[in-house]
Amino acid sequence: MKSPRILLAALCALLFAVAAQAAAEPADTLVVYGDARTGHDIHRKIVGHILTFRPQAVFSTGDQVNDGRIQGEWAVFNEIISPILETSRFYPLLGNHERNAELYFKNFRLPGNERWYAVRQGPIQFYLLDSNGLIGPGSNQHAWLEKELRGVPKDVKFVAALFHHPVISSGPYPDEKNLARRLLPLLEKYGVDIVFVGHEHVYERSFKDGVTHVTTGGGGAPLHLKLRHNPYGQVFASVHHFCVLRVAGRTLEVRAYDTDMALVDEFRIKSKRQ
Ligand SMILES: [Fe+2]
Repeated sequence: MKSPRILLAALCALLFAVAAQAAAEPADTLVVYGDARTGHDIHRKIVGHILTFRPQAVFSTGDQVNDGRIQGEWAVFNEIISPILETSRFYPLLGNHERNAELYFKNFRLPGNERWYAVRQGPIQFYLLDSNGLIGPGSNQHAWLEKELRGVPKDVKFVAALFHHPVISSGPYPDEKNLARRLLPLLEKYGVDIVFVGHEHVYERSFKDGVTHVTTGGGGAPLHLKLRHNPYGQVFASVHHFCVLRVAGRTLEVRAYDTDMALVDEFRIKSKRQ
């Protein structure tokens, strides 16, 4: 029989191994927000709240600045998000206000071709797209996305698509880019779980044909109002806000908070993958 000292040492080694494994696990808190533009004070406040969640990565749904051709605007934006960059990765995408400017690509170092790219964060596979330009069937972006969606790794529990222009909306720009025809069939065919967009300066959650659509464009730009009935709409709030994502087991939890940290919305999605 082993001595108590040997058993204690073995127990300590086991506990150390478990602790080391836990430390090696990727953090499971992520943030999505967008449309900061010229709302610097609000954006600063939102960044302060975001930091309290210690997210591993922060995603933006575009319109980071008001005019992407002006480096001074990027300098302000970079200064506001700089505390995020100290501890997290920041993944933006092209809104219309980036104006397809070369400065966007100079201010960020992104994966892939930087215009559209994939990011894996733990159990979630993210696809960040450019909804300004060619994205429909026959385009390079569409072909790239289809190839990616076909090859989603087996251990991914959720697939998220992020782009700037909403497909479904109660606001001023419902399906402005004809994405319901050009992009949505691809997302639905391959079982994309959740779509995050911006462009409309509101929070809105909709659900259609198995896909949850979240408009999160409340990062600082002037707010929009509800202008029309959205038959797929579940929650609408004209507030500045940000979204926090957490995965617990096979459940994705999403919570949206306003600038006073009041809960705007909260929902869960169960993984439909093996
Ligand atoms: Fe926009």
